[in-house]
Amino acid sequence: MKEDLIRYAAALPKAELHLHIEGSLEPELMFQLAQRNKVEIPFNSVEEIRAAYSFSNLQEFLDIYYQGMSVLLTEEDFFDLTMAYLNRAAADNVKHVEIFFDPQGHTDRSVPFDTAISGILTALRLSRVQFGITAKLIMCFLRHLPEDAAFETLKQAEPWLDQIVGVGLDSSEVGYPPSNFARVFAAAGKHGLKRVAHAGEEGPPDYVWEALDTLHIDRLDHGNRALEDKKLVERLAAEEMTLTVCPLSNLKLCVVDDVRNHPIKKMLDLGLRATVNSDDPAYFGGYVMDNFEAIIENLDLTREDIKMLASNSFAGSFLEPGEKRAHLAAINLVN
Ligand code: HPA
Ligand code: ZN
Repeated sequence: MKEDLIRYAAALPKAELHLHIEGSLEPELMFQLAQRNKVEIPFNSVEEIRAAYSFSNLQEFLDIYYQGMSVLLTEEDFFDLTMAYLNRAAADNVKHVEIFFDPQGHTDRSVPFDTAISGILTALRLSRVQFGITAKLIMCFLRHLPEDAAFETLKQAEPWLDQIVGVGLDSSEVGYPPSNFARVFAAAGKHGLKRVAHAGEEGPPDYVWEALDTLHIDRLDHGNRALEDKKLVERLAAEEMTLTVCPLSNLKLCVVDDVRNHPIKKMLDLGLRATVNSDDPAYFGGYVMDNFEAIIENLDLTREDIKMLASNSFAGSFLEPGEKRAHLAAINLVN
């Protein structure tokens, strides 16, 4: 029965809307790039790297995540990283991706903005022919840094704005409320960029309200803690706000203590537009289908729930209405 549902989920076309490309850096590639670029990393083997991936909160993960990025130096590195992710996504029948990148994670260690984005975009341009996947790119601001630094990043992005669909907000959440970034998000909106933000992963429901009311987000990343506030849930449902939920990430970062207690089924039952995503698959134990498998194994999801999750991923994407309709029609053909 569960196997049937997993087979069904695997067969469905899906979109991935919450994926940090730097978080798809597998230990094997990290090791290879460290050698290629002669970068010292504090690990002697792939096994040692994997063994270090045990976290009790978001910050413990972020410390290792920023350290892992240190091997990414050249345009080719960013290209190889992105191609490796697309290859994995294709294996999971992902047909559309909207990926995040963290420019400040690179510019702050003297890797130019243009180097990072060029390598990523070259891979994304190949994506449709090589993997049958369409792709969009979202640039995130690191919220533990000041808003001035986000403005500087937006300035660096200006020559590339026709190839960036939107801006996001990520990194350490508690103590860094969304409203700190209201001005830079408004500036991004004036450029015609979509706006998304991580909120309610560790931070309180108030941060989700702020993301809605001060950042004017088009999509909410995580949003788990919104469930603590009934009025907020009603608003998110009424606005058909898409939540990019990341079950294995939530488990690894101790946002939930057990997948059996993951709220994604509850979100669907409350009428929220939840989707399934991998966040940082190299660090959290899996890609999109690993996340589907985990929730199917541990929650009482129905076939309709699975179909809804796949449909939501296209409905919540930044594809054009006609493209969304085509993907939704393809979902209806799977049985
Ligand atoms: N939360 C916040 N920032 C991040 C994450 C996350 O899950 N992954 C990469 N940056
Ligand atoms: Zn994330």
